[in-house]
Amino acid sequence: MANKTSALTTLVNQTNELIQKSGSATQARDLHGTLSEIIEEHNYKYHVLDRPEISDTLYDQLLDSLLRLEQKFPQLHTEQSPSARVGGKPLSQFSKAKHRQPMLSLSNTYSPDEIREFDVRARKFLDLPENKTLEYLSEPKLDGLAIEVIYEDGTLVRALTRGDGVTGEDVTANIRTIKSVPLRLRGKNLPKLLEARGEILLFKEDFKKLNDDAQENGEEPFANPRNAAAGSVRQLDPKIAASRPLRAFFYGLGEVEYGKHSSPKTQEELEASLLDFGLPVNPLAKVCPDIEAVIDYYHNLEKRRHSLEYDIDGVVVKINSLERQNTLGTIARSPRWAIAAKYKPQQVQTIIEAIDVQVGRTGALTPVAIMKPASVGGVTITHATLHNQDEIDRKDVRVGDTVIIQRAGDVIPEVVSVVLEKRPKNSKPFKIPNRCPVCKGAVARNEGEAVSRCTNQLCEAKIKESLKHFVGRRAINIEKLGDKIIDQLVDAGLVKKYSDLFELDEVSLSKLPRQGEKSISNLLTNIQTARTTSLSRLIFAMGIRFVGEQTARHLARHFKSPKKLLAATKEELLSVEEVGEKVADAILSATHDSVFKSEFNLLSEKHLKLEDTGPNLGTAKAQSLQGLIFVITGTLPDLSRDEAREFIEAHGGVVGSSVSKKTNFLLAGADAGSKLQKAQELGIKIIDLDELKGLAQKSKI
Ligand code: IVH
Repeated sequence: MANKTSALTTLVNQTNELIQKSGSATQARDLHGTLSEIIEEHNYKYHVLDRPEISDTLYDQLLDSLLRLEQKFPQLHTEQSPSARVGGKPLSQFSKAKHRQPMLSLSNTYSPDEIREFDVRARKFLDLPENKTLEYLSEPKLDGLAIEVIYEDGTLVRALTRGDGVTGEDVTANIRTIKSVPLRLRGKNLPKLLEARGEILLFKEDFKKLNDDAQENGEEPFANPRNAAAGSVRQLDPKIAASRPLRAFFYGLGEVEYGKHSSPKTQEELEASLLDFGLPVNPLAKVCPDIEAVIDYYHNLEKRRHSLEYDIDGVVVKINSLERQNTLGTIARSPRWAIAAKYKPQQVQTIIEAIDVQVGRTGALTPVAIMKPASVGGVTITHATLHNQDEIDRKDVRVGDTVIIQRAGDVIPEVVSVVLEKRPKNSKPFKIPNRCPVCKGAVARNEGEAVSRCTNQLCEAKIKESLKHFVGRRAINIEKLGDKIIDQLVDAGLVKKYSDLFELDEVSLSKLPRQGEKSISNLLTNIQTARTTSLSRLIFAMGIRFVGEQTARHLARHFKSPKKLLAATKEELLSVEEVGEKVADAILSATHDSVFKSEFNLLSEKHLKLEDTGPNLGTAKAQSLQGLIFVITGTLPDLSRDEAREFIEAHGGVVGSSVSKKTNFLLAGADAGSKLQKAQELGIKIIDLDELKGLAQKSKI
């Protein structure tokens, strides 16, 4: 492993040299070929096999080398290059294309008896004798977006959504950004044509993070992981898709011309062959010798359903033999050889006691339902966002209504519908006020936007929320400066802008209610400690719309200094990874704003010490976790997950996305969920932050 790391670091250095010294086009092409192969190999190991071998930092360096090489030698950029994964130019619209074979749907069943009836029907059609059992493949029914990816001679040429089943939309540019979808298939004797079908998903944890970021950026959150995945695949700007951690599982085929490649005989072999080609398949798929085994599978998976990393809404039951599938054929728009055995969603009734309107950092007014506490899937729910006026109108939610609630993606409480029969007599439709509930400023709704916003620049709610974001753990990270103190600081007129935080002293803080000497001195120490930070944290903390942590990191890596970011042109911004039109415009409108500019300068020149906190690769100390694979879950006591990742990588370890047999350690914090359960099942060692630090100190030198 150490050799591999140093060989790859050498490759990065070679590329840098070639770029600086303007090497020959032939040398560049050779190096580009090597880099492309290595990057795709590590994509496969990380995203398909879940067995990462190199750190994210080294991976980023390899990709960065490739991108810079292509900037210098533009002829090297092709649609098959891994650089295509960072997202190309925005489209004005999606073109449409017909599926060679229609994409069918499944008929649904909701009970074991209905599953047995399916078996009886199929056996009858196949003329099977009583004593002969029918073998099935059962697998999770994924709640995502159906997709078809088309490979010609092993190269990804097109990806289509299901559309109406006959005609889909060409979303190739977006699908190319999904790292688990190979740009070239693996292996020899590749089929002349392979149409693989599957589902695009977002894992629950990634969905939660995406929505937390959206909320922090003042954007509209997604209702559930399925909508988020579908919305990402249907973005016209591929850079947006590239910024979303989309996943894919493949489970079927459209048209195939195998050529010299052997053709599978069963659904099990079919899925195994997809994995051999480098396409991810669901590891929970299982062959069941008869229908009773299918029903056991259905019940067992239902018990595990909430601890899976992604949403499922049932089981898909497929007859295993492809010959029999062929004999059974289709009826109407569904195959006779498969059914969906669906689970009932966990829904509960409760009463809306009030609807609060909260004001966010960008002034967005968000109506929130306050409900009589109700338990859904073991969690007590009291609040649910109602998103905006359109959503309230669509569901016609009113104070006093009895509503059905569920947890979207098993995470976010959601009002599904109103039980109209139980509506109190004189209830009135709810309207978001046309004055800000905090500052009474004017409220406006931009054309094409669903949110209403308070337009007052000096609205106290906006100032407070911006400051809360600024001091947050993932931003400037001033410990113990909680929401309450921020409210008090603003109410007392002590803080109006970010930089005021660094002018606080004992005298000013003593004006706050209920603050003892000790807590004041602690707070001042924490402010002092937070002064040493990084450019990426500062960029994120400034709260530019659409600039989340990841984009802030890309911007910091690209511009390296606050001044250069302030001077960046649109063209330059667009060349940064994951920055598309919308993000670039938002950054420009911030950097052209005089208040933003003066705050950014004041903070970076006077109050903060910006250090490159990136992990330090290749030193002797850095090797103590070499060769070890970690997965991180839950909330860690004093590090963000990204910081824990940086720490592990700085010591030579790698961090995987999900727990597998190859995982060496699960680093678990508070409220760890499905990953903890899976690690326990697999007997993987579970450690806390202190144990991790202990491991890292046991340096091998
Ligand atoms: S097999 C005839 N397997 O469910 C279609 N479909 O309701 C055969 N789906 O459009 C599809 N998980 O998008 C299959 N493991 C799975 C699936 C799955 C989800 C979706 C698929 C299909 C829909 C049908």
